[in-house]
Amino acid sequence: MYTFRNVVILFCLFSWPSISESCNAVDKEALLDFKHKITHDPSNLFSTWTPSSDCCKSWEGISCDSAGRVVNLSRSGLNGDLDDGPLDTFISGTLSPFLGNLSSLQLLHLSNLKELKGHIPLELGKLSRLRHLFLNTNKLTGSIPVTFGSLSGLEKLYLNANSLSGIIPLDIFKSFTSVLELGLSGNNFNGPIPSSIGNLSMVSSLDFHENNFSGRIPETFGNLKYLIYVDLSGNQLTGSIPNSIGGLLHLQVLYLNHNKLTGRIPSSIFGIKSLEFCRISNNNLTGNIPATIGQLPKIQRLIFENNKLSGKLPATIGHLTTLTEMYFSNNRFTGLIPSSFDNLQNLQTLDLSRNRLSSPIPPQLQNLKNLQQLDISFNPLALVSLPLWLSKVDLFQLGMAGTGIKGQLPRWLASSPVSILDLSSNSLTGKLPTWIGNMTSLSFLNLSNNALYSLIPAEFKNLSLLNVLDLHSNKFSGNINHIFSKNNLYPRGAYDSIDLSYNKFSGPIDENIGEGVAMPYIASLILSNNSLGGSIPKSLGKLSQLQVLKLVNTGFTGRIPQKIGNAKRLTTILISKNKLNGSIPKNILNLEYLQEFDVSQNRLSGRIPQHKANIPVSAFLGNLGLCGSPLPPCKQTQS
Ligand SMILES: *[C@@H]1O[C@H](CO)[C@@H](O)[C@H](O)[C@H]1NC(C)=O
Ligand SMILES: *[C@@H]1O[C@H](CO)[C@@H](O)[C@H](O)[C@H]1NC(C)=O
Ligand SMILES: *[C@@H]1O[C@H](CO)[C@@H](O)[C@H](O)[C@H]1NC(C)=O
Ligand SMILES: *[C@@H]1O[C@H](CO)[C@@H](O)[C@H](O)[C@H]1NC(C)=O
Ligand SMILES: *[C@@H]1O[C@H](CO)[C@@H](O)[C@H](O)[C@H]1NC(C)=O
Ligand SMILES: *[C@@H]1O[C@H](CO)[C@@H](O)[C@H](O)[C@H]1NC(C)=O
Ligand SMILES: *[C@@H]1O[C@H](CO)[C@@H](O)[C@H](O)[C@H]1NC(C)=O
Ligand SMILES: *[C@@H]1O[C@H](CO)[C@@H](O)[C@H](O)[C@H]1NC(C)=O
Ligand SMILES: *[C@@H]1O[C@H](CO)[C@@H](O)[C@H](O)[C@H]1NC(C)=O
Ligand SMILES: *[C@@H]1O[C@H](CO)[C@@H](O)[C@H](O)[C@H]1NC(C)=O
Repeated sequence: MYTFRNVVILFCLFSWPSISESCNAVDKEALLDFKHKITHDPSNLFSTWTPSSDCCKSWEGISCDSAGRVVNLSRSGLNGDLDDGPLDTFISGTLSPFLGNLSSLQLLHLSNLKELKGHIPLELGKLSRLRHLFLNTNKLTGSIPVTFGSLSGLEKLYLNANSLSGIIPLDIFKSFTSVLELGLSGNNFNGPIPSSIGNLSMVSSLDFHENNFSGRIPETFGNLKYLIYVDLSGNQLTGSIPNSIGGLLHLQVLYLNHNKLTGRIPSSIFGIKSLEFCRISNNNLTGNIPATIGQLPKIQRLIFENNKLSGKLPATIGHLTTLTEMYFSNNRFTGLIPSSFDNLQNLQTLDLSRNRLSSPIPPQLQNLKNLQQLDISFNPLALVSLPLWLSKVDLFQLGMAGTGIKGQLPRWLASSPVSILDLSSNSLTGKLPTWIGNMTSLSFLNLSNNALYSLIPAEFKNLSLLNVLDLHSNKFSGNINHIFSKNNLYPRGAYDSIDLSYNKFSGPIDENIGEGVAMPYIASLILSNNSLGGSIPKSLGKLSQLQVLKLVNTGFTGRIPQKIGNAKRLTTILISKNKLNGSIPKNILNLEYLQEFDVSQNRLSGRIPQHKANIPVSAFLGNLGLCGSPLPPCKQTQS
């Protein structure tokens, strides 16, 4: 019994593989060569690929057909048994040209291996049965092999997120008649998008964003009848958007932003009934928006900002009841905001800032129950006061900068839940009221460039979620320590930046400014042009995230505290026009990230410490006795 079983086991162990090895020998050789060119495999993804085993039966990531030909090669572990998704690892190495011998291959899936380098082998063009080729998220270089023109059965090709370059071979798309998805984004491809793009007659998704494609969008683009998703953003495309784009009858997502497109928006775009997201921002588009824009039954986002669009905003936009976001900032729109906008029941964001719109703002906008962000800043609205109907809208963000608002801050703001409030560059006067402390939702407050005066009330401390405060260029006076000692509803209420420059604040600053509960993460502190006096607080050195410190013309006396050099992230230190004496601490001038430094017009003396940052002479001028490079050398008697 035992003997018989042992014989069977022995037979299986030694004889069975050689008799019924199913893996085709050419394929096996190719796979072993592929493995051989992987120089580092920290997760042992290819540990099962041993010469003595059957590639079809025991190699992870390999599937064969009944003839023992390899049909699928996928990154092993990709669809592992782990419930928590694919293993996130890397392998180093190059792609073996032997892969071209896998003549039955349908799927080659080697994405997100991160350290795959070198060129894509020309031999891959021999894989005439290939349907899915995924090489994205690696470090491949070189260009797309011209031999890819033979891959006529290809359905999905993803080469995105590599370092590929060069032009797209002109005729390559001619054979891609079965391609459904094409991802080339995040490479350095240049030159024009070939007009053979129009031969991708089945394509539903095209992603070319973040490359260096130039030239025009080919007219043949309009042939891509099944296109649902197209992203050509972040290239150097010029010329106008082809009128043929209206032929993309199934298009849902159109991203053409961040190019150099000119001319008008073709009205044919607004015939695409399926369109949901349209982002054409950051180009040089001109002309007005045709009234036909009102015929987009599924549109959700219109992102047209940073162009040169002009004319009136069509009232027909009011028909777009599915619209959630409208970003039209920084164009040249004129006339009134149509009152029909009150039909936009799903609108969450309305950004019309930096245009040439005129008054009045239609009070009907208060009917927009889902509106969260309203920005109408920098339009010649000549408002006298903040419209009262705004008190009835619960906004998260309100931007009314540069709209001509005069007078005092309206009291209804006290009970507003607004988080981001920008009323800068107006003609606000009067005091910062004590009820400012009731605006406890505030995270961003910009009241700069107004004529507000008064002390900072003690209630300011109640703004326990405030991160960004800009009060520059007003007439505020008195002590500023309530600002630095405000509450922090941890962890959300720490400051990111404070700008109090160009006011009439007086000092001295609390010596412990750097220890306030709201201060530990501040990146920018600007107090220039106030009459603070006293000495620069040493505790500023505790602000470990501080990058920008500007204390120009603030009346500071005494020495520059050496401890400031403990704020290791400082890039900018401007402390000119004070009455600082003593010498410049060596550690400050040698801060690792220092780029901008100015101590001119103080009473400093002594040798300028050696430093590597490139700081101009002018930054040291106007002191009592500074010497050494970049100023003239020190005399023997100076130290
Ligand atoms: C090969 O991969 C494709 C696509 O992922 C899949 O549909 C097919 O079932 C796989 N073939 C085999 C033999 O595993
Ligand atoms: C496999 O590919 C390599 C590299 O292209 C080639 O030199 C070799 O002749 C091929 N082997 C077979 C059997 O086709
Ligand atoms: C490619 O598109 C052009 C222009 O639309 C057409 O004339 C040509 O026949 C197409 N070629 C193939 C191979 O489909
Ligand atoms: C992009 O292309 C332009 C010419 O069209 C060239 O001047 C520029 O260097 C290219 N940029 C990169 C990053 O390749
Ligand atoms: C728009 O055109 C101006 C000159 O007319 C040019 O300076 C600017 O760079 C262009 N912007 C874009 C995004 O192409
Ligand atoms: C406040 O608004 C002014 C323009 O009115 C702008 O220059 C400044 O950068 C804004 N401050 C912040 C912190 O965004
Ligand atoms: C501010 O809040 C206090 C305390 O909750 C309240 O008494 C006061 O009426 C509020 N002020 C305004 C202007 O709403
Ligand atoms: C607001 O601030 C004042 C003064 O600091 C304080 O007395 C008051 O309790 C605070 N109110 C709230 C609601 O925190
Ligand atoms: C800065 O302060 C100086 C003197 O304190 C004053 O003369 C000057 O006008 C101020 N600069 C500005 C732009 O307000
Ligand atoms: C530096 O300035 C401080 C304050 O103005 C003064 O007390 C001190 O004597 C000065 N030191 C020198 C060396 O001038």
